[in-house]
Amino acid sequence: MPLPIDVRFAPLTAPLQKLTAVLVGPDLQLGPVVRDIDKKTGGALLRAARSAEFTAKAKSSFELLGHEAAGVERLLVVGTGGRASDLDRAGLGGAIAGLLMSRNASSASLVVDLTEPFGNGAETVVADLAYGALLRAYRFTRYQTRKAEANGEAENGRTSRDLKELVIHCARPAEAEAEFAGRRAVAEGVVLARDLVNEPPNVLGPVEFADRIASLADHGLEVEILEPEQMAALSMNALLGVAQGSARPARLAILQWHGSRSKRAKPVCFVGKGVTFDTGGISIKPSPGMEDMKGDMGGAAAVVGAMVALAGRKAPVNAVGLVGLVENMPSGSAQRPGDIVTSMSGQTIEVLNTDAEGRLVLADVVWYAQERFKPRMIVDLATLTGAIMVALGKEHAGLFCNDDKLAAELIAAGEATGEKVWRMPMGAAYDKLIDSKTADMKNIGGRFGGAIIGAQFIGRFVKGVPWAHIDIAGTAMDSNRNDINQSWGSGWGVRLLDRLVRDSYEKAEK
Ligand code: BES
Ligand code: MN
Ligand code: ZN
Repeated sequence: MPLPIDVRFAPLTAPLQKLTAVLVGPDLQLGPVVRDIDKKTGGALLRAARSAEFTAKAKSSFELLGHEAAGVERLLVVGTGGRASDLDRAGLGGAIAGLLMSRNASSASLVVDLTEPFGNGAETVVADLAYGALLRAYRFTRYQTRKAEANGEAENGRTSRDLKELVIHCARPAEAEAEFAGRRAVAEGVVLARDLVNEPPNVLGPVEFADRIASLADHGLEVEILEPEQMAALSMNALLGVAQGSARPARLAILQWHGSRSKRAKPVCFVGKGVTFDTGGISIKPSPGMEDMKGDMGGAAAVVGAMVALAGRKAPVNAVGLVGLVENMPSGSAQRPGDIVTSMSGQTIEVLNTDAEGRLVLADVVWYAQERFKPRMIVDLATLTGAIMVALGKEHAGLFCNDDKLAAELIAAGEATGEKVWRMPMGAAYDKLIDSKTADMKNIGGRFGGAIIGAQFIGRFVKGVPWAHIDIAGTAMDSNRNDINQSWGSGWGVRLLDRLVRDSYEKAEK
């Protein structure tokens, strides 16, 4: 996975790049390197800070130019703010990368000679800053050929004026590099997920998505791709019904990571909705904004990204990722409202709205995951309903869960990563709403509580295993931009799942 910039670590004594960012702590506290720079500028740094009434609030900054004697041409002075959590540190790293990227330099230094305002663990601080910078530097430029040419030589939309390298100067570069390795692996997963979500729907259909997954085998993942004939043999008629209107055949991708010491340890299972384009099918969507439905595979992207993260950091856990890949199109062969399909579980579904297709895909994949892998738990991620955005906006994804322990673990992982989830209710009264007069259930249930109804539907395919459904319609695409993400496709969920595994499933494997 090509990462957006090269991050490397150098000693504090190494020469600085022409563009360099330095940190200033509360009460204009300086580390030894920055104190020396200030001295070489004849005290200009601290004078400028005072005249700008700079108080070193987190992410506040000013620029000092023309002090070549200090060994740098452009010095960006950035405030750290007070004691910060690891999350804030990644945010600070992201904000610094954002400032550096707007300055037309291909390479820059960041001096981290201050650890006090960040709390303990100097290497952790450095690694978090680097991690945030890496995530922030991501841009999807593959198709911007003209813009790039106008700025000089171009390659994949990148020019010589784009930041390509960040050198982080710190006290113990080798230790920082070691601490950073796991974060780099997670960033690779996030970048992959963002790329998949950002790709246009003509380029990335079910087959192309599956091909990209197949190329991940060299990450140490075991990959299987099922084709429609194999899915038909498994009676996955709910999934296949969604795909039948498209000229592009469905795929089911299964990724396994065997990281546990015991090969037979039960795996954790992640399931992703991978609708590579959702027109709504015969229940067609209105055309304004329909282009956003290229992102309806954000759940699948997050699952694949999380598997890459786990494999990349050699997580001591067994994990399986399963993604159902289909395109939801209207055509002469498309599924009709009123069709009744028999899912792999044997339960029949009356398809009253072909735009409620994600739950049909998940019904079969969630069932298959349990039948084949007997997992410790299942988490599914899906851009399932517009209703979840009405309920929660774009700050939280909706969490639906049949197990209080798993719910608490996910909420904690969300707080730790900033990929926050908010638990929503489930229950028999909601479940009744999808009873059908002619089949075992119908795929819609009335106007109110739309996101809950989607969850209840998937829940009917869960049998006695801890399960969480996360509705990421508001967070996977066009979500609120922040210090560590400026991309339309956010890669939301990779960091959440990685953290969930790290904090709750790597120890005490059953
Ligand atoms: N993919 C959509 C949900 C969606 C909408 C995701 C907007 C991201 C942004 C899903 O397949 C869908 O169409 N859901 C319907 C369900 C309804 C027909 C019960 C919806 O939300 O309107
Ligand atoms: Mn839909
Ligand atoms: Zn959809």
